[in-house]
Amino acid sequence: MEFIKVEAQARPYVALVQLNRPKELNALNLQLMGELRDALKQLDEDEQVRVIIVTGNERAFAAGADIKQMAGKTAIDMLNIDQFSTWDQIKKTKKPLIAAVSGFALGGGCELAMTCDMIIASETAMFGQPEIKIGVMPGAGGTQRLTKALGKAKAMEMVLTGKFLTATDAERQGLVNRVVPVELYLEEAFKLAGEIAQMSPVAAKLAKEAVNRSFEASLEEGLYFERKNFYLCFASEDQKEGMAAFIEKRKPSFSGR
Ligand code: HXC
Repeated sequence: MEFIKVEAQARPYVALVQLNRPKELNALNLQLMGELRDALKQLDEDEQVRVIIVTGNERAFAAGADIKQMAGKTAIDMLNIDQFSTWDQIKKTKKPLIAAVSGFALGGGCELAMTCDMIIASETAMFGQPEIKIGVMPGAGGTQRLTKALGKAKAMEMVLTGKFLTATDAERQGLVNRVVPVELYLEEAFKLAGEIAQMSPVAAKLAKEAVNRSFEASLEEGLYFERKNFYLCFASEDQKEGMAAFIEKRKPSFSGR
């Protein structure tokens, strides 16, 4: 891997993936995205991993897709490159994904953070979809996910002006889980990941899938989907263990089976 660093056991059951093109503010070129897709797929299959954190560095989570790589492309080049199949694959990650964001999360960077399930932000984090300023528009989910998170008026303004959202405003508007001082953002992400890693990984996967379903389905369909996943939990050893531990007044030990 040239443009990302992967630590499968950064903490017990918690993997860390760091975007690593610091000079280019982690601009998301095709190779980086390919590496990220492959790493997430591998970690998703690793039984020793229950939660995955995606981060950048203090200055930038990612400043967007690589403009220099895209500048000369035609529509047909873009169609043939089919970069969004990579993004679709990332979206299919079954384990909880936490974005630990500091500095710039712009364009594809903001979209990548929003593709994750939760966002922990440093006070310096800035979210934005500035594509309009370079003559294009968001292409990896920004118009959809930002609108679902912020509502139409705020999302529209960001997409049409390219204005950034500060970490504090992002938290106030529900885009991020919480904001912490810059020296603590990664630690805070580890804390959240560690908490989730203690839960049943089977239930966590099924629950993640059900929450995400709410973006795709009607209430009726979503409730139906939730119910099926709820029933499926009862096929796991973790359900037996979790409920037995409650009754026996002890801490459960989940195996992911
Ligand atoms: C390629 C980028 C880049 C990007 C920064 N760099 N962002 N290279 N693609 N998206 C490079 C700069 O060219 C520069 O390299 C180096 O990183 C440092 O950036 P500076 O501009 O010198 O830093 P600064 O003045 O602090 O400004 C930071 C910034 C600015 C505000 C984040 O870099 C910026 O506006 N970047 C572009 C943001 C953007 O428009 N993102 C959306 C991209 S389109 P050199 O070698 O030149 O010094 C998109 C579409 C997604 O994301 C669609 C689906 C994938």
